[in-house]
Amino acid sequence: PAPGWSAETDVVIVGSGIAGLTTALHIARHSTLRIMLVTKDVLAAGSTRWAQGGIAAALGAGDSPEQHFDDTIVAGAGVCDEAAVRVLVREGPAAVRELAQIGARFDRTHDGSLSLTREGGHHRDRIAHAGGDATGAEIERALVTRVLDATSVEVLEHALVLDLLRTADGQIAGLTLHVMGEGQRDGVGAVRARAVVLATGGIGQIYASTTNPSVSTGDGVAVALRAGAVVRDLEFVQFHPTVTWLGARARGQQPLVSEAVRGEGAFLVDDAGVRFMQGQHELADLAPRDIVAKAILRRMRETGAEHLWLDARAFGAEKWRVRFPTIHETLLSLGIDPVHELIPIVPACHYASGGVRTDLHGETSVPGLFACGETACTGVHGANRLASNSLLEGLVYGRRIAESIRTRLDAPGAPPEPEPSTTEPAALIGDKARPALQQLMSEHVGVLRDAAGLAAAERGLAELRAEAGAEPATENWEATNLLTVAEVLVRAARRREETRGSHWREDFPDRDDGSWRGHLDTVRTPDGT
Ligand code: SIN
Repeated sequence: PAPGWSAETDVVIVGSGIAGLTTALHIARHSTLRIMLVTKDVLAAGSTRWAQGGIAAALGAGDSPEQHFDDTIVAGAGVCDEAAVRVLVREGPAAVRELAQIGARFDRTHDGSLSLTREGGHHRDRIAHAGGDATGAEIERALVTRVLDATSVEVLEHALVLDLLRTADGQIAGLTLHVMGEGQRDGVGAVRARAVVLATGGIGQIYASTTNPSVSTGDGVAVALRAGAVVRDLEFVQFHPTVTWLGARARGQQPLVSEAVRGEGAFLVDDAGVRFMQGQHELADLAPRDIVAKAILRRMRETGAEHLWLDARAFGAEKWRVRFPTIHETLLSLGIDPVHELIPIVPACHYASGGVRTDLHGETSVPGLFACGETACTGVHGANRLASNSLLEGLVYGRRIAESIRTRLDAPGAPPEPEPSTTEPAALIGDKARPALQQLMSEHVGVLRDAAGLAAAERGLAELRAEAGAEPATENWEATNLLTVAEVLVRAARRREETRGSHWREDFPDRDDGSWRGHLDTVRTPDGT
């Protein structure tokens, strides 16, 4: 739709999780640039507030960025970008300390130092946490408080990004968005800007069941694709091993049981009560996530079980209440008492390790367009993200993006003139296609993949695309974004004929470093292919 209004600023940041808020705060604190922070729901609605386990950084005695580097590289299964990981682990400790200074209340030991726990793939206790298992909520609270205090940040809630604007020579020039509830004529506007940061979070809603909230519809990746930005590593979708099983027909966001629960001593068992992770990996129940998820799936197949179990009864009531209050309460509300009962678990979609490709300063292949957090592919996660590195990535790279924008833009100024034809409006598919899309993805593009299933998914998605022609509406934009991301993901998964990290091809069961130790990049051509 043609924009009904227009506005002007220096920087537009889309998304209000740790990535978007950190970027906004760091630009605001050290410059006079005008910032518009746009978010699809209310400020605190994104994935960050759901993060349980914590934020990883080499902060403990005996730990070092080098050891954190090694664990990240091993989890990433040969396709991490080493320079990006080095930035993450070296700048991580100071960034977490700063987060504490600006008000995030991390859990502490008796002597006042940060209380650190362990999660899968880590050889050290290096996960800082808050409120026991409410780390994301506390970080989000602290950052939102600071951002609301920053007078140069204008916050626009309930606004969905539609497309990016570019100049005739391909520079970013702003974006179009729809302010929900204002109607199609008055609600659609253009914000002209000199830099845009996409920090819209993940893509979890392309699957039938996920730990991601309902807002995670891949909007940032989809608008970047439509603007011709390079997207990388999309086939590497991480499935969290321990998501509470609520029945075979459960759909949408499902309750996570943090890996920190295993970090504190819980373990997996099958229907017969047998511990099956021992002997599979030196870290047993705390092996990297892809290994645990695959082992669970294998065991489910061997035994015909619909789910397996997590045993954390040994914690006792007090530890459950103090260390994991959020999970405890959620389980009790579902009728599961983890003090006396096993917790039914199953792997579910959790995190997109790939995203919009960026350099070490968060800039994408479109000049002036940045991506941060789960929306981005900085290269730190490779084929499988190490637990609790995602909050850290948003924090470290948000700071870097802020510095890069501050240096480049210097002082407030006029944005460039957008070229009207640089972004073709998407032909929208209807929201009624969403369940079919999610079913196709879960059935054929989940933990286990093969050529026949991927081809079936591709055909099914093409049929959904052929039905495009829906009216402009928020749900239809979201469904279209889901489809755009799913198409690229399936194509990359089909092309990568090997098994690596979280990409498990049953027809190519081995890792093939000879042919596949690289990235799969996608750029969408103007005709949408
Ligand atoms: C968890 O708490 O298990 C999730 C941590 C993460 O995804 O990094």
